[in-house]
Formats: sequence, structure tokens, C-alpha cells
Amino acid sequence: MPSPELCTEAEVAELVTTFYANVRGDAILGPIFECHVADWSVHMPTMVAFWSAALRGSKNYRGNPMVVHRALPDLTHVAFERWLDLFHESATALKNQAMAERAVELSQRIAQSLWYGYQLQREPDRMPSSLPQRAETSRSVAVSE
Ligand code: HEM
Repeated sequence: MPSPELCTEAEVAELVTTFYANVRGDAILGPIFECHVADWSVHMPTMVAFWSAALRGSKNYRGNPMVVHRALPDLTHVAFERWLDLFHESATALKNQAMAERAVELSQRIAQSLWYGYQLQREPDRMPSSLPQRAETSRSVAVSE
């Protein structure tokens, strides 16, 4: 469950800032984001609002990530795996390890769902591929459910 006790708004902003510094310097993801982010000064606060809603339960994210990602032309299994690696790296660098664990767990589930939705829209007759689960993430999912 999201909870304002899990982390502060400043910690959410720190996670998003670290993650995007990694993304923008990455050979696979950097060019995709540079090509499709219309305005970074809009995208960054949107991402903070999204993660604040997911982790703290705040109500200031309005949007539909599935629709936004389905419209992107160049998403691949490799790009999603890299996204998850960088997110994991950015989250585990945080001091707040409870927040890091929850963020990694959520990122795994949301990435999987976005990747399924993406594949099903493009190739509805093919069995969609799954993203690899991190061992520590599947353990924490199993405990919380
Ligand atoms: C290959 C992986 C991914 C790529 C290349 C990617 C790329 C993008 C791009 C280009 C945008 C649009 C920015 C804009 O309109 O300015 C976006 C929006 C967004 N992405 Fe991703 N993304 C990926 C995976 C994910 C995952 C796994 C999550 C969540 C865990 C996520 C969450 C979001 C959210 C919340 C938005 C904002 C949607 C809105 O406008 O309301 N993305 N992403």
C-alpha cells in the first residue's frame, strides 16, 4: 500500500532525478527519451507526481502511462530491461531502503504490464514475452501478497 510514511516528497524527487541522469546518459534509452520527451520541464514533475502517487499515495498525478507508451514507436524488450536495470540501480542507491524495495517492486510490475500492453497492441496474435524478475523483487512481492 502507498503511504506518506514510506518516504518524503524530496526523496521521490531524488529518485527521479538520479534515474533520469542515468537514463539520459544511457546508449539505449538516452536517444529514445531525447527523441520523444517534448518538454523536460513538464516530464520531470510528471514523473515525480507519478512516483509520489505510487509510493506515498498522493493524488497529483493525472495521466495514462499505457496510452503514452503504446504511442511510442521504438520500445523493445531490451529497452525495458535496461530501464529496469537503471531504475534498480537508482533506487538501491537511496538511503531509504524500504522505499527502494517498494519502488523496485512496483517498477517491475508496471514495466511488465506496459510491455505486455505494448506487445499485444502491436502483435496481437503473438504470445507476449515476459521481462526477467529480480530474485529479491519476487521475494518481496510474494511476502506482501
Ligand atoms: C523502455 C522503457 C521506457 C521508455 C523508453 C519510456 C519512455 C517514455 C517517454 C518517451 C515518455 C513520454 C514523455 C513525454 O511525453 O514527454 C514516457 C512517459 C512516462 N513514462 Fe515511460 N518509458 C519506459 C518505461 C516506463 C516504465 C517502466 C514506467 C513506470 C514504471 C514509466 C512511466 C512513465 C510515466 C508515468 C510517464 C508519463 C505519462 C504521462 O504523460 O502521464 N515508463 N516514458
